[in-house]
Amino acid sequence: MAALRLGVLISGRGSNLQALIDACADEAYPAEIVLVISNKADAQGLKRAQAAGIATLTISHRDYADRDAFDAEISAALGEAGAQLVCLAGFMRLLGEAFVERWRDRLINIHPSLLPAFKGLNTQARAVDAGVRISGCTVHFVRPAMDDGPIIVQAAVPVLAGDDEGALAARILVAEHKAYPLAVRLIAEGRARVVNERVVIDGAADVEGLMLNPPDPSGKRHGLFELFERAKS
Ligand code: GRF
Repeated sequence: MAALRLGVLISGRGSNLQALIDACADEAYPAEIVLVISNKADAQGLKRAQAAGIATLTISHRDYADRDAFDAEISAALGEAGAQLVCLAGFMRLLGEAFVERWRDRLINIHPSLLPAFKGLNTQARAVDAGVRISGCTVHFVRPAMDDGPIIVQAAVPVLAGDDEGALAARILVAEHKAYPLAVRLIAEGRARVVNERVVIDGAADVEGLMLNPPDPSGKRHGLFELFERAKS
């Protein structure tokens, strides 16, 4: 099967882009990156793409009269490159409805929380402030509302005593770098389908060994599934 052609949109560091580049370096991985677009010329992610021999473009929102014109330019570049799936990876501009509809179910985003909790910016700081025990990241299909849309993959990450924003963000980022390539793989393999605005994953096993945080004081590291099973018997 031909590799799914990815366009990746970034604004900065590009560590999720790097995770996708690394995944695509494996011949068995069912996707390839055909174009990286940044709205910022100095984005570190552009250097990562260039180092991997991937075509890059800078399209600055400052050069366009309005959002529609900016979005249209990005859409055209992605179309010309033959992109089949568009991955937002730290892209810090909101895309308008026309763009989102043109790429409907072919446009995904990664967000550093368990959506729909903590949409928007400063996500990790807000999770720490709220005292949640578990946070994480979400890869989802994009809809016009910010950080909204059918969920493809989530990873749960514990919030530890003493965490500040940076410590939690770093831990979540490790999970992001696993979650994004997994979501792209599921789509590329045709295993993730949107049905009634929810994603159905073909052939995925149910998760076992869920997380209790804080852990059981007995020190036993059983998952919640096991607790449920025990409660039933
Ligand atoms: C990540 O935390 C991602 O979830 C969010 O923006 C950040 C981008 O980081 N949307 P990077 O540019 O991929 O390193």
